[in-house]
Amino acid sequence: MSSAFENTIFEDPILNVIHLLNSIAQENPEAISLASGRPDDEQCDPSLIDRGLARYRQHVADTDHSLATLLCQYGKTSGIINGILADYLQVDEGIKILDPESIVVCMGFQEACTLALLSIFEGGGVLLVPDPVFSGITGIAKLLRIKILPIPMATFLDPAALRKLAEELESRGEKIKALYAIPDFSNPTADSLSYHDRRAMLALAKEMDFFILEDTAYSYFRYEGEKTPSMKSIDSSRVFLLGSFSKSIFPGLRMGYVVAPEGAGVTPFSARLCKAKSLVTVNTPALCQAVVAGLLIENNYSLKRLNQPRVLSYTQKRDHMLECLEREFRPWVDAQRTLTWNQPAGGFFINMHLPFAFGYSEMCECAKHFKVIVFPTSLFSLTNDAVNQVRLSFSNATASDITEAISRFRAYVESRTQ
Ligand SMILES: Cc1ncc(COP(=O)(O)O)c(C=O)c1O
Repeated sequence: MSSAFENTIFEDPILNVIHLLNSIAQENPEAISLASGRPDDEQCDPSLIDRGLARYRQHVADTDHSLATLLCQYGKTSGIINGILADYLQVDEGIKILDPESIVVCMGFQEACTLALLSIFEGGGVLLVPDPVFSGITGIAKLLRIKILPIPMATFLDPAALRKLAEELESRGEKIKALYAIPDFSNPTADSLSYHDRRAMLALAKEMDFFILEDTAYSYFRYEGEKTPSMKSIDSSRVFLLGSFSKSIFPGLRMGYVVAPEGAGVTPFSARLCKAKSLVTVNTPALCQAVVAGLLIENNYSLKRLNQPRVLSYTQKRDHMLECLEREFRPWVDAQRTLTWNQPAGGFFINMHLPFAFGYSEMCECAKHFKVIVFPTSLFSLTNDAVNQVRLSFSNATASDITEAISRFRAYVESRTQ
């Protein structure tokens, strides 16, 4: 008997990726996991909760506000720490916030992108995304029935090719309303946009009248070279900044924010974002906002110092994974020349190209028989472009786990190519 609840959007594999990333290791307890891009367990320090909260209490005591009302009552929809976040964005990102009410404090990036999409896509239009890309954006866009157009990563990273594609789309009558970008060390492929690419993307957005959804989740995690300015800091008028404290503090807080476009003549979006927020989660838990605000005040509105030991530790993990890949796969590469991996300057991932297709069933087989879990990059893709790619995450693995996992993965690759 057919049911109204069969073959719905909920069967779409993209909607299952976040759950799969969180569950695959539990289903294979004896396997070493390089699947999830969780921050390092060792860097999740619960004493930060007490410290943040204590510092925020002290901060409120110096004002006319009531701590009981701020922490225990329903709160202001846009948030109770907007001014503190504005100072933080100025210090760490060089972003000048004209009105702190253009910031809406959210429950992580995930709510921030939901609110941005809800406020932009009323009445249709298309969302451009690089492909492959983090399923947090494509999954929610699908749930909201937004038309998504995936752009091959090579085109996305080439301003001239991107412009040509955007012009072709508009000439076919597609109205581009927004483009999603992770400019620093993307998930899953760890690609970045150069300063020149960012400026070109902003110019295109202005010319063709669309918005950029800028996701800065990995921007603190640069292991070499100079920081590239965020697009929001270059031109706020076209950018919804989607921020997250999941990597820069820890994910259990579920804290993030969206900053609406600002500038002369810019459509005000804050009211729309707040209306959507008031119906999605009412307001972000005040306790979590207080912890973040206290930590920001304690650290002079910067998270750079707090993240220094993390950056050091992730740099070592990345270097160690690259050494293991070199040791295990170099002779093999030299012989066959069909296996490559990138050397990202930051982020949590290394992306590898294999000489064969690697999808969901191969991931399960590799976990079961070779006791290592690596995640198919294709599960983040809406096209067939990434079928032979695999994402290796080093952020939450110990050095000895990385050594053993890469050795086991080499054994799997050998078994597939004999
Ligand atoms: C590209 C990207 N953006 C944002 C996030 C953080 O999302 P949230 O703040 O909802 O934890 C992640 C986490 O995996 C991510 O990979």
